[in-house]
Amino acid sequence: MLSDSDLVTKWSSDQVAETDTGVLDAQPASPLTEPRPLLCVRDLWRTYRRGSEEIHALAGVGLDLRPGEIVSIVGRSGSGKTTMLNQVGCLDRPSSGSILVDGTDVTRLREKDLVAFRRDHIGFIFQLFYLIPTLTVEENIRLPLVFARRQDDERVDELIERVGLTKERRSLPKQLDGGAMQRVAIARALINRPRILLADEPTGRLEKKSRAAVLDIFRELATDGLAILMATHDLEQAGEADRIIEFSDGKVVRETQNRRK
Ligand SMILES: Nc1ncnc2c1ncn2[C@@H]1O[C@H](COP(=O)(O)OP(=O)(O)OP(=O)(O)O)[C@@H](O)[C@H]1O
Ligand SMILES: [Mg+2]
Repeated sequence: MLSDSDLVTKWSSDQVAETDTGVLDAQPASPLTEPRPLLCVRDLWRTYRRGSEEIHALAGVGLDLRPGEIVSIVGRSGSGKTTMLNQVGCLDRPSSGSILVDGTDVTRLREKDLVAFRRDHIGFIFQLFYLIPTLTVEENIRLPLVFARRQDDERVDELIERVGLTKERRSLPKQLDGGAMQRVAIARALINRPRILLADEPTGRLEKKSRAAVLDIFRELATDGLAILMATHDLEQAGEADRIIEFSDGKVVRETQNRRK
């Protein structure tokens, strides 16, 4: 498992059908009615070894995610949610299977190319926000641009406004509540204009009002075409998604389409 500092280093240096049957998984979406998926995961396996024991954290998962879609992954602790997000987010390598992000199979990228790919195509937020305590809100948000040797003041301003942190721009993380910290993390994840946002228990540490604020931001971002894949234990939050995918023992066991959309 990646440590907190590994995760910070990783992002700093720079989520269907019931697929256990494999039937619907093989059918392409209708090109007339649905936009092309941004993410296509096929027959994904991640096997860990613990002594002589093999643990199939993912056991043949398939999943699609389209622009503008919010998809929740739910399931018991240990069902493979985080493992799934880590494969898509290129923080870990699968044992087998394919992960197409915007047409590129990331499982085939070399480490060197993976860093740049992750930086430009995937935003990732976590339950613990992983902000740099000595940097201001604005500096935290700008950091991935600095690593990418880019300048994009307009994007910084736009995101600060969008996540509602204009007044807190020069504050340090310790001066913020958890909800605001997660909003900083969302802005930072999106600064390089990725089209996919991965979120692992993004509201797990937040109180109700902050949870709702994060979900409102997700909905707004999705309206603009961002695809969001989030793992959550919070069924109320999961219900806000367009689709809910339930994992059990590393497999997709159920998929529910939310009628709201
Ligand atoms: N690095 C690792 N080494 C060995 N086993 C691992 C590793 N990472 C995950 N696992 C195992 O893989 C399975 C899936 O774990 P994962 O963290 O993906 O579950 P999860 O659904 O995110 O759980 P939670 O709801 O508690 O966050 C578990 O059995 C876990 O113990
Ligand atoms: Mg998890």
